[in-house]
Amino acid sequence: MKILGKIENNILPDIETGRLYLCQRTVADAADIFAYASLPEVTYPAGFPPVETVEDEAYYLEHVLPKSQAEQQLPSGYGIKLKGEDKVIGSVDFNHRHADDVLEIGYTLHPDYWGQGIVPEATSALIELGFTLLKLHKLELNCYDTNKQSQRVAEKLGFTLEARIRDRKDVQGNRCDDLRYGLLKSEWEASR
Ligand SMILES: CC(C)(COP(=O)(O)OP(=O)(O)OC[C@H]1O[C@@H](n2cnc3c(N)ncnc32)[C@H](O)[C@@H]1OP(=O)(O)O)[C@@H](O)C(=O)NCCC(=O)NCCS
Repeated sequence: MKILGKIENNILPDIETGRLYLCQRTVADAADIFAYASLPEVTYPAGFPPVETVEDEAYYLEHVLPKSQAEQQLPSGYGIKLKGEDKVIGSVDFNHRHADDVLEIGYTLHPDYWGQGIVPEATSALIELGFTLLKLHKLELNCYDTNKQSQRVAEKLGFTLEARIRDRKDVQGNRCDDLRYGLLKSEWEASR
């Protein structure tokens, strides 16, 4: 991957990978992001209800996301763009801080692009950046046990299943287990 700049005030530099550009999202991307953040098949497995309007998405991008990142001292995440297509088709973020050197990763992708290894490619770049530029010790990832697609992504990225928290509820209130995955920097280095 190629890092296209420097970190400034927790804003991560854009990144280029084989097929993708990972870029900072702005309000101008709201319509692109709404196209997938409004779909139940994307949002419910990811743990949030569908976004109802483009204006709500714009408000989220401008106010809610930056506030949450500032409160948890999280570096900004990325919109995912395919090279040659100037639109955001997914996102990959550090969405929780568990310790000074342990962050959790989250991701979503427009269903038109599922099954092409796009999120694994984007998340690999975020992992590399986390362990090198951000000097993290560990990355974590959570998903419902009903979310087989996300489990495959975690496995392909080398995460270890560390815990199964039984009989919780998903965002729609259905019983499911919460799976907790982890990847240590030493494991990531050994696999390279
Ligand atoms: C999870 C998600 C980000 C995976 O992204 P992706 O770029 O499609 O990932 P991959 O291409 O590696 O596919 C992962 C697995 O999904 C399955 N899959 C592929 N295409 C699929 C499709 N069209 N429909 C359903 N499942 C599919 C396959 O089992 C694949 O594993 P494989 O590579 O071993 O065959 C994407 O499915 C998504 O956005 N899901 C909804 C949001 C979500 O669940 N986010 C994660 C919350 S923890």
